[in-house]
Amino acid sequence: MDIQSLQKKISEELTNASTIQSVSELELTYLGRNGAINELLKGIKNLSLEEKKTAGKNINSFKTFIAAEIKKAKEILYSREDRTLGVDATLPPSADESGSLHPITIAVNEITEIFNKIGFIRMSYPEVDWEYYAFETLNMPVTHAARDDFETTFLSGSADKKMGKMVLTPHTSNGQVREMERLKSTPPVRMINIGKCYRPNWDATHTPMFHQFEGLCVDKEITISNLKGTLDYFVRSYFGENTEVRLRPHHFQFTEPSFEVDITCTVCKGTALAPLATSQVARQAKCKICKSGWLELGGTGMVHPNVLKAGGIDPSLYSGWAFGFGIERVNMMKYGIDDIRNYYTGDIRFLNLF
Ligand code: DAH
Repeated sequence: MDIQSLQKKISEELTNASTIQSVSELELTYLGRNGAINELLKGIKNLSLEEKKTAGKNINSFKTFIAAEIKKAKEILYSREDRTLGVDATLPPSADESGSLHPITIAVNEITEIFNKIGFIRMSYPEVDWEYYAFETLNMPVTHAARDDFETTFLSGSADKKMGKMVLTPHTSNGQVREMERLKSTPPVRMINIGKCYRPNWDATHTPMFHQFEGLCVDKEITISNLKGTLDYFVRSYFGENTEVRLRPHHFQFTEPSFEVDITCTVCKGTALAPLATSQVARQAKCKICKSGWLELGGTGMVHPNVLKAGGIDPSLYSGWAFGFGIERVNMMKYGIDDIRNYYTGDIRFLNLF
């Protein structure tokens, strides 16, 4: 039989094969050692050298083609048989497949507990909020350029005269003045606001939805020392006893002065050197995670007087500090995870690590 008629015959038989067993039988008939295709190869021995070359090449590529067709047919049948086999509800469950909390839920619980211990109350404020709470009361009036930094998603609908438009809140700082209002503008305020935030980015360090935790402390005589002490306490509780904190000057509209918080790298322990280096040369190599010994945690500062005023609190009597950190970010730093998208692709192998 020639290649063409053989191909027609195999295609027909593959289409009619309805079980994996029958496909396997066809595989043996055609691709086996004594199968039809090897017979074709044997048949070329009487041809001239030139003819042998072309025929051999044709038969071999035909063989590859048929092997791929058989593989495809098997895959289709496997997936169908999986589905038709269904579920046997009388079987005992497999012991190693139990559900667990999502790593972000675990982190939220852990962070809540760390702050509860020092008297901070966990709050949740709206994910869909007014511009008033997301910007205006945070010392960013309507035309202020700093609003652009937050790449905010606006909901359609007309603006309220006082509240502005509704937004998917880009940070948890919208909870600051809401909390002051909840307490009827009467300190002490000790809040840890944990919630979802939205900014339209998708790469190794950004997802369009992520979580932040926002600390806010307002009382008489609150100073940067209190802020530094609280950050030290949090960082040691969450990352481990030997983790250190440093503050770098920065700018935010809602704090004055403002800082960026760094912690000593959780991988190289602040040495800036590649941790597993053994040879003398490799020991000089920089830590790939931080390169400097420090990792950036997020923003903080002393609450701006205008923010206290917006919450009805007199800045000449009270002062406070605030911070806003990403939950995914701190969790990635703690466990050395290099792609935030892992949290949201639902890959069970990743989720099982926690
Ligand atoms: N809201 C800021 C952001 O998402 C983070 C932040 C910085 C929060 C300083 C604060 C703060 O409370 O004081 O980028």
